[in-house]
Amino acid sequence: MLGDEIVSRINQLGTISETPEHLARIFLSPEHRIAADLIMSWMKDAGMAAHLDAIGNVCGRYEGDRPGLPCLMLGSHYDTVRDAGKWDGPLGIITAIACVADLNRRGVRLPFAIEIVGFADEEGVRFSSTLLGSRAIAGTFDESVLNTRDSAGLTMRDAMVAFGLDPAKIGAAARARGELHAYVELHIEQGPVLEQQNLPVGVVTAIAGATRLAANLSGMAGHAGTVPMALRRDALAGAAECIVAVEAFCKADDAGLVGTVGIINAMPGATNVIPGRVSFTLDIRAPADAHRKLAVAEIVGWIEAIAKRRELSLQIDVTHENRTVPCAPSLKAQMAEAVAAEGYGVFELPSGAGHDGMAMIDIADVAMLFVRCRGGISHNPAEHVEIADADAGARVLLRLIENFRPGSQTREAGGGQDRAR
Ligand code: GLV
Ligand code: MN
Ligand code: MN
Repeated sequence: MLGDEIVSRINQLGTISETPEHLARIFLSPEHRIAADLIMSWMKDAGMAAHLDAIGNVCGRYEGDRPGLPCLMLGSHYDTVRDAGKWDGPLGIITAIACVADLNRRGVRLPFAIEIVGFADEEGVRFSSTLLGSRAIAGTFDESVLNTRDSAGLTMRDAMVAFGLDPAKIGAAARARGELHAYVELHIEQGPVLEQQNLPVGVVTAIAGATRLAANLSGMAGHAGTVPMALRRDALAGAAECIVAVEAFCKADDAGLVGTVGIINAMPGATNVIPGRVSFTLDIRAPADAHRKLAVAEIVGWIEAIAKRRELSLQIDVTHENRTVPCAPSLKAQMAEAVAAEGYGVFELPSGAGHDGMAMIDIADVAMLFVRCRGGISHNPAEHVEIADADAGARVLLRLIENFRPGSQTREAGGGQDRAR
């Protein structure tokens, strides 16, 4: 059963982390590099040629029945959030490698090549800019992000050099549309729907769009003991009011709007100093793009009003924007056939989480298969997938690959990205 090896590799990769207590494998860190080398070794064991591309994506290729054929591209990401689960990202890479290893053992060569990509940065933890790996492959990497700094003040450009990459060569990672038949990603669901449906896998209909913003509030730092409450311009109290307003606004929505403040920094950061400056992030998502855009405009309006009333100056910028990406109907149909052929009920669901397909849509039709996770928990160390479900996902993916009909995809209108940077 493929599930045994998949789970053993998930556990192995899950130990490659910034600290042993909390899984964190951040873009261009030393452990990111160790993970890349391990994944490449697994690709080679599966009979693939493997290399690290110009942005740090791990790329493996299994030739078809003759060399140089266009590929079916599979993959997911190998970076993580902080205090992450082991499955978000790696499951899609490791399962795809297990499928190719199985074909290789049986000597099967198909009328197309298979490529697997371990994308370097999907989460965007380090430089507040997501999908860097898949954007480099899609040829839409915005080189201005090379000047962004991490929380330690290091630019992405310098971090790439430290990792052993040449920022001037990022363009070399780009692939042309004609090189790919399609991009297919297997990923844990990260929500509770499949568990509720009592199903191990589900066919994804679309990946919901997202807007991320960075807000900075400035007031006046001062002595915590001497400045009367009425005379304060406390940036942290202002940020707190903004956060509660965002929560209330999203809670009152009945069309799936979700809003999260995931990072907040108060400066100068001392117990006895009134915070003079605060920065915080906002992540706003909704199933419909028009609804999300309207909500973002209203939320920014609320934040502006709070800042004005509290006499705080405000700088608020969109750092990332991706529109909703539909999965290609003909690929969804092939995925549904594979699910049914493995004996499971076919169930379709949208993805509220972002995925590399949001960038890959610019060069290929996209499809996704979700695998059930326990309690719908993700971005949390409690993230868990049962062996039997990992195995079910692998069998469905393998069947999809072996029955894949290249060239039958039809491009849907409306895919793609509109980045703010
Ligand atoms: C990625 O996990 C995202 O949806 O933010
Ligand atoms: Mn994630
Ligand atoms: Mn993910």
